[in-house]
Amino acid sequence: MRLDKFLSNMLPYSRKEVKRFCREGRVQVNDRPAKDSGISIDPECDHVRLDGQEIAYIPNVYLMLNKPAGYVSAVEDNKFPTVLELVPEEYAHFHLYPMGRLDRDTEGLLILTNDGAMTHEILSPKKHVDKVYFAQIDGTPGKKEIALFKKGVVLDDGYETLPANLVVLSSQNGKSEIELTIREGKFHQVKRMFEAVGMRVTYLRRIRMGKLPLDPSLELGQARQLSPEEVRMLGGK
Ligand code: URA
Repeated sequence: MRLDKFLSNMLPYSRKEVKRFCREGRVQVNDRPAKDSGISIDPECDHVRLDGQEIAYIPNVYLMLNKPAGYVSAVEDNKFPTVLELVPEEYAHFHLYPMGRLDRDTEGLLILTNDGAMTHEILSPKKHVDKVYFAQIDGTPGKKEIALFKKGVVLDDGYETLPANLVVLSSQNGKSEIELTIREGKFHQVKRMFEAVGMRVTYLRRIRMGKLPLDPSLELGQARQLSPEEVRMLGGK
């Protein structure tokens, strides 16, 4: 791995800043100054120091959690249990955090990781990674709502959403089950999109991010590590 990649992954500094630290002679590899930030290091064996402080190597980890309702998507909370309480003990030292947020009452696919660069990329509105939700709603969306969602709906704060794909799975007695694909993640977005057309979400579950589906064999509250192929699918590749 390149030295600048290693340092910017392990520390809250950009590659540019890390390059400067190297030029300034503040970085050492195996007790020798490393002025060239482009050199290759073996993070498992080499000892890297910044300003004399050894930088521990923590590899990137990605967990898929089937989030149950009742847990907040945060690292700590003084009122409710957090999704981190569902992370198996053996991952505790990786300092994982949720990649984005699901509401406390939302279930389904939530990624926990320590990869800041990837989190930034996946959540960036410019990246347009699809997020697919299954929902039960009070209301019967028809052609009008499908067309509106396709065009973009105006939320309560005046924001117009990017085009979204609404599929009505079934409707009965004024209630429906739907699948909605959105490419952004505004606060309470799915609920607010339905509110904007006079309907109410009564149950919400995320079932896919990018090309990565929620593993149907994961029970609510269970988590497992992603394979490298699944990490790629998360980015939509
Ligand atoms: N949209 C919502 O309204 N809630 C979620 O948890 C996720 C998307």
